[in-house]
Amino acid sequence: MNNNDLQPREHWTTRLGFILAAAGSAVGLGNIWRFPYVTGTQGGAAFLIIYLIAIIFIGYPVMITEMTLGRKTQRNPVGAFKSLAPKTPWWLVGALGVFTGFVILSYYSVVAGWSLSYIFRAISGFTPDMDFADVFVGHITGVGVPIFWHAVFMILTIGIIASGVVKGIQRAVKTLMPILFVLLFVLIVRALTLEGAAEGLSFYLRPDFGAVTAITFNDAIAQAFFTLSLGMGAIITYGSYLSDQDTIGDNAAWVVGLDTVIAILAGFAIFPAVFALGLTPDAGPGLTFITLPAVFAEMPLGSLFGFLFFLLLSIAALTSAISLLEVVVAWIVDEHGWARKKAAIVLGAIIFLVGIPPVLGYSTWDGFEFLGMDVLDTYDWFANSIFLPLGGLLTAIFAGYVWQARNLQDEANRVEGSINVGAWYGFMIKIVVPIAIAIIMLVGLYQTFTG
Ligand code: TRP
Repeated sequence: MNNNDLQPREHWTTRLGFILAAAGSAVGLGNIWRFPYVTGTQGGAAFLIIYLIAIIFIGYPVMITEMTLGRKTQRNPVGAFKSLAPKTPWWLVGALGVFTGFVILSYYSVVAGWSLSYIFRAISGFTPDMDFADVFVGHITGVGVPIFWHAVFMILTIGIIASGVVKGIQRAVKTLMPILFVLLFVLIVRALTLEGAAEGLSFYLRPDFGAVTAITFNDAIAQAFFTLSLGMGAIITYGSYLSDQDTIGDNAAWVVGLDTVIAILAGFAIFPAVFALGLTPDAGPGLTFITLPAVFAEMPLGSLFGFLFFLLLSIAALTSAISLLEVVVAWIVDEHGWARKKAAIVLGAIIFLVGIPPVLGYSTWDGFEFLGMDVLDTYDWFANSIFLPLGGLLTAIFAGYVWQARNLQDEANRVEGSINVGAWYGFMIKIVVPIAIAIIMLVGLYQTFTG
């Protein structure tokens, strides 16, 4: 049974609603947690330049592709491929996307749970005598506490998705995204007005090409996919709630632009503060949860700013998590006729359970090791080094050669906007994107397995 025959598909009620939803999906832990620490360890502005090239030449064309696939077919990723290439195995690309949604959301929610718990730690006060490395390790090596916050985060995500596209997703992003912009602005002003902020700025803006290696290119492309929510059908799914009155070239540019600006701005909120207080930005993943609380502890009104920061991080994570759950829910609603509420609750609960091993990887199961990684990093590695680039590669090949770039261009240009999806698109999606992704996947795998 196909549920679409029973209920008309919901559509975003305004263009802004869609742009904020897609930008909300894009702006997440990837921008505020991962982007600054990768930049901090991979040559500052040198990484930024490579990243921008990846965003423009790979991210933007793939964003256009996913939006158009969704709008054209009005289906979840599995249904989208089925409807354009019936009776072929291409639907498996959509299925890989749905599976990737399960994997990413399960550990994403664990990290988002850390962020939620830090909102409350900030309220009880960050003080200079605390050892924040100890605090963080103490937190993640717990069992009940991190599982509790992971559950709270999943319940929030399920609640929004269960309420629907317009009453759930669109309403949530219209409230949360403006709050996110304001919080980020406040934090940037705070960071830039600290004494000694200039040193952080010069670190951030001075390119250190000496730190650039093959890994840097790999990280830049992987980051481009993750941060733009590409490669697993999240944008296909959000695009499927567009009506054909919407301009693709412009909408895609808005989403890519907003995401990039917010990632760069997150750096302006973080690096000046880190340097002003005499710390270094090369802590890796611990930058957000260890270095930053130490920075807040030293700052006037630091607990307040710490509270605002972790609120920002949690909001960014929530508007991304809903897009991950929506992919999975849209699949089972469209393809198997489930009611949305039931789908959100049942699938959300399964994802919660899949997220328990990454929590336990720091305590009960700390003996687990895969290529030197703990459980959470292993999930992340599979998602980012294999599933997302593979999904992106196959989607590009499908769009370029199976559905054909020309057809996609015509579909994308159906409504005229200021950006026309021209012949350049065909060149990108047929040649540049597949080759770039194939190379970085191979280099990435080679590097991982040879250490
Ligand atoms: N883009 C989000 C971030 O930067 C994460 C995310 C949401 C995502 N949906 C996705 C990543 C789909 C890949 C695919 O944190």
